[in-house]
Amino acid sequence: MDHDKQGRDSFEFPKWANAIRLPVALMAAGAPVYILGMLYLLFDPGTTSVGYQPEQPVSYSHRLHAGELGIDCRYCHTGVEKGAAATLPPTQTCMNCHATIKTESDRLTLVRESYQTGLPIEWVRIHDLPDFVYFNHSAHVTRGIGCESCHGRIDQMEVVSQAEGLNMGWCLGCHRDPEAHLRPVDEATTMGWTPGLDQRELGAQLREARNINPPTDCSTCHR
Ligand code: HEC
Ligand code: HEC
Ligand code: HEC
Ligand code: HEC
Ligand code: HEC
Repeated sequence: MDHDKQGRDSFEFPKWANAIRLPVALMAAGAPVYILGMLYLLFDPGTTSVGYQPEQPVSYSHRLHAGELGIDCRYCHTGVEKGAAATLPPTQTCMNCHATIKTESDRLTLVRESYQTGLPIEWVRIHDLPDFVYFNHSAHVTRGIGCESCHGRIDQMEVVSQAEGLNMGWCLGCHRDPEAHLRPVDEATTMGWTPGLDQRELGAQLREARNINPPTDCSTCHR
């Protein structure tokens, strides 16, 4: 035990301890901030992105095309039954109609330019899972989960916005209780579909008939 200048007994930390005093103090002070930050991120709608509705380069309307005109989702999102990605339509798909419909419209200038130059329209991505999550459209759509269960009433959207949080709890909620959402496979793209009988009763029937068991082990979605 040393004596300092005032002659009091004092315990001295070893020299190296001085060097870590600042970082340790910062960590101690920072811990609550860090925890609050994590909690904020968990509940912040910006993280879960519900309602995310970026402006698109062309004012394409699902309300008009999928709603009023009644074009089936699969006409444009050709991947939904075949693969992981739903995919966006190439400009050619738009030109199937717009080579003859509204050919002078200013709102279609970019579409015509894209068709002439061959450069795709740069649609802004809305739904976007982190890279460490594996998702597959066909695994859902061909087993009787409708677009509407995950994307909402797209046929009523002038501009698409994200309807669900797409977080892990949301995925697992349905994997544990698919009865609440199952519908006939040929109604997968129908918007505003309602079960003729009780949804839970129908869901239970469909689940048994098709032997549906959504996995909940980690490697299903993290591979
Ligand atoms: C005539 C073509 C066409 C039809 C039909 C169509 N879509 Fe789309 N869809 C698009 C285009 C183009 C985009 C990209 C621009 C946008 O977001 O509006 C898009 C975007 C989307 C997105 C957002 C993609 C993202 O970036 O996250 C969803 C979800 C979607 N469509 C679902 C549907 C559903 C469900 C239907 C059927 C009810 C449907 N679409 C019918 C052309 C179409
Ligand atoms: C099956 C035919 C069909 C397809 C495919 C189609 N459209 Fe249309 N589109 C229409 C019709 C019909 C109208 C409404 C015309 C009217 O108001 O008289 C329209 C209107 C529009 C308008 C508004 C034009 C205006 O001046 O009011 C835009 C923009 C548009 N479509 C973009 C697109 C884009 C982008 C695609 C491809 C992703 C696409 N459309 C695919 C049939 C189609
Ligand atoms: C079980 C939920 C679920 C169902 C059912 C579903 N989607 Fe999706 N969709 C998603 C998720 C999650 C993403 C984001 C995927 C990613 O980031 O990898 C997405 C992305 C998209 C995209 C953006 C492009 C892409 O391929 O990532 C489009 C377009 C789309 N969905 C359309 C549809 C249509 C049309 C249907 C019905 C035929 C449908 N989805 C059914 C959850 C779903
Ligand atoms: C509304 C219900 C619902 C939602 C939401 C949902 N799923 Fe599913 N998922 C299912 C059903 C039903 C199956 C098919 C199970 C079967 O074939 O037995 C499935 C199957 C899958 C499969 C394929 C499993 C396999 O190996 O066959 C993957 C991967 C998957 N889901 C990932 C996800 C992810 C990631 C999310 C969230 C972004 C999600 N799911 C959200 C209902 C849902
Ligand atoms: C049905 C699909 C699904 C299953 C099964 C699943 N996860 Fe996830 N997980 C997700 C999705 C989607 C996210 C992305 C969440 C986000 O972006 O908010 C995620 C995110 C995570 C993260 C990142 C932290 C976070 O919250 O963002 C970790 C860690 C994780 N999962 C671990 C696990 C473990 C461990 C298991 C098994 C017990 C598991 N997951 C099973 C879909 C799944």
